[in-house]
Amino acid sequence: MKLTNLAATGGILAALLHVGYVRQWFGQAARRCCNSLKTGRIFRFYGMGWLPPGFGANFASKSTEYKRNGVRSVFFKQKACKDGILSYLFGCGGMGKAVAVDVVAGDEEWFVEAADKAKSAITHVIDTHIHADHYSGGRKLAQLMNARYCLHQGARINFPCLQLYDNDVIEVGNVRVEVLHTPGHTRDSVCLLVTDKRRGPEPWFLLTGDTLFVGGVGRPDLTREEDKMAGELFDSLHYKLLTLPDYLEFFPGHQAGSVCGSGLSGKPSSTLGFEKRNNPLLAIKDREQFIRRLTSNLPPRPAEMDQIVLVNTAA
Ligand SMILES: [Fe+2]
Repeated sequence: MKLTNLAATGGILAALLHVGYVRQWFGQAARRCCNSLKTGRIFRFYGMGWLPPGFGANFASKSTEYKRNGVRSVFFKQKACKDGILSYLFGCGGMGKAVAVDVVAGDEEWFVEAADKAKSAITHVIDTHIHADHYSGGRKLAQLMNARYCLHQGARINFPCLQLYDNDVIEVGNVRVEVLHTPGHTRDSVCLLVTDKRRGPEPWFLLTGDTLFVGGVGRPDLTREEDKMAGELFDSLHYKLLTLPDYLEFFPGHQAGSVCGSGLSGKPSSTLGFEKRNNPLLAIKDREQFIRRLTSNLPPRPAEMDQIVLVNTAA
């Protein structure tokens, strides 16, 4: 009798455990499904409905005024990455379009989710130059989002991309992005002058890539022509960037901790006016003196630089 009771109790416990296991399994499956939907591995929300990844840019670009959840304004996000690298995502929430800049390999999903939160499709992915210190995630993100991958036309690459020229303009809804070719750190370096057309015709901010940092400037020796490139950097700084208004806020490609320049601040943004007064390298007004100063105290080149450049330029 006791054995029968014991068997019955065991059977009930086993049944309960089985039900619990089944419920847990269904719970996990539901969570996995929701996560997949959220991150776009199965479908992604683009403002016009749930669509497979890659279709967003085409459909969202046809929308006129995107008002879902009240997200209408221009947005801007700075992402601090490892080794002092800074990446960017900005765009027009009203029109549901965004631009990603200097994406690090492995960070692609962050950009996908951040764009989803802003109810925007990434239409352009720009690298401010061929990076020598880290692997770019730009091409992969562009493929994921069916976006255009963009580099300056001077970049020596072995794959097709949207080539950028000096003074090119990219319209992203109410955001205007003007390309400024600023050689010096590399031949193909560009800065991006961004305007929020809803607020006014004046530029809103500047992305300086590795041309100008907070407290420093880009190193000129990565192409092993440091004297020539340091001279070009002086010209890019003094005849292009520093002719822009002093009030203009800029956001660089690196902060302290990077090997792409020396003397960098840990603050990830500044204004041109502040840097004119306090950046020791901008205080040098003589071109030859600037070249001597910049090439006399260079930090070690990035580890695995040749391999990184090879991957970032390979087909
Ligand atoms: Fe760089």
